[in-house]
Amino acid sequence: MILDRRFSVAPMMEYTDRHERYFLRLISRRALLYTEMITADAVIHGDRQRLLAFSPAEHPIALQLGGSDPDRMARAAAIGQDYGYDEININVGCPSDRVQSGRFGACLMAEPDLVAACVTAMGSATNVPITVKSRIGIDDHDSYEFLHHFIETVAAAGCRSFIIHARKAILSGLSPKQNREVPPLHYDRAYRVKADFPELEIIVNGGIDSLEQCQLHLQHVDGVMLGRAVYQAPYLLAEVDRTLFADTAAPPSREDLIRAIQPYIAEQMDRGVRLNAITRHMLGLYYGQPGARAWRRHISERSYRPEADGALLETAMAQMPGQLELQH
Ligand SMILES: Cc1cc2nc3c(=O)[nH]c(=O)nc-3n(C[C@H](O)[C@H](O)[C@H](O)COP(=O)(O)O)c2cc1C
Repeated sequence: MILDRRFSVAPMMEYTDRHERYFLRLISRRALLYTEMITADAVIHGDRQRLLAFSPAEHPIALQLGGSDPDRMARAAAIGQDYGYDEININVGCPSDRVQSGRFGACLMAEPDLVAACVTAMGSATNVPITVKSRIGIDDHDSYEFLHHFIETVAAAGCRSFIIHARKAILSGLSPKQNREVPPLHYDRAYRVKADFPELEIIVNGGIDSLEQCQLHLQHVDGVMLGRAVYQAPYLLAEVDRTLFADTAAPPSREDLIRAIQPYIAEQMDRGVRLNAITRHMLGLYYGQPGARAWRRHISERSYRPEADGALLETAMAQMPGQLELQH
């Protein structure tokens, strides 16, 4: 499969699980979706079915791995490929303490040779693209030359696609959340990487929250990756296929989506999945629309009830302002 990375949804722990991805895929057929970060050790030793299984409908889908031991990263990548992932991505951007003590995540920006060794080993163990998601720097290593050297070294090992979260990470003193907000965004750094390495695919990430902004970035780089904006307002994806991929099909309405996800909810609940595990990702569906709060409240208050099932979404929809008008 040839992956088109013009638009992707960022890996987000606790958010981009299989249910979120299934829901997003109903909205956009073209967006590339990423898993949450999973450590190589968890893939090798953990409950693989729980960690890695996904619905075929989720393609195109990339598995993000955390780790820095080339051997183990290669084993985990091969397992990911066997599960059907279309791309394996290495996390070189997460600043959390837990991740640093495992010597992976953003601190790896200081060890480009090690990241390169991972890319080489993972590339030999698989046929899917191996990509890297990084920051623009860490702590005092925040010059363009530092980033340039990192990209050059890792690209020489065979990585052709880089996702650059356009702010540096501060490895001590800031929480992961602060590290997504406090260090300023420098999109120009990602643009400059593209200008210096035109043969590489460069995707910019961080603070992008509209398709208009995506189009501006796409004048400088090959792709955009959005995280929080999509989670908060998933219907943002509805225009992605038409606007960024020139698809002609009309996007589904919110109401179409609520109907389309019903068979999935029924199937997952039959397997013992709690309704809330799916509907929690749908709370932002009406973000910015009249009745958005009532929608959220209706679902969050009732989705835990033992008798609740997919019909809950239909009743929540029926009391939306537009729907009430239709009925009266
Ligand atoms: C709740 C949450 C969890 C995240 N988990 C991951 C992760 O597992 N791997 C990763 O590379 N980045 C992770 N990130 C960072 C995002 O992928 C992205 O780089 C960051 O949020 C900036 O993009 P945005 O401004 O579009 O959200 C996470 C972000 C959030 C908000």
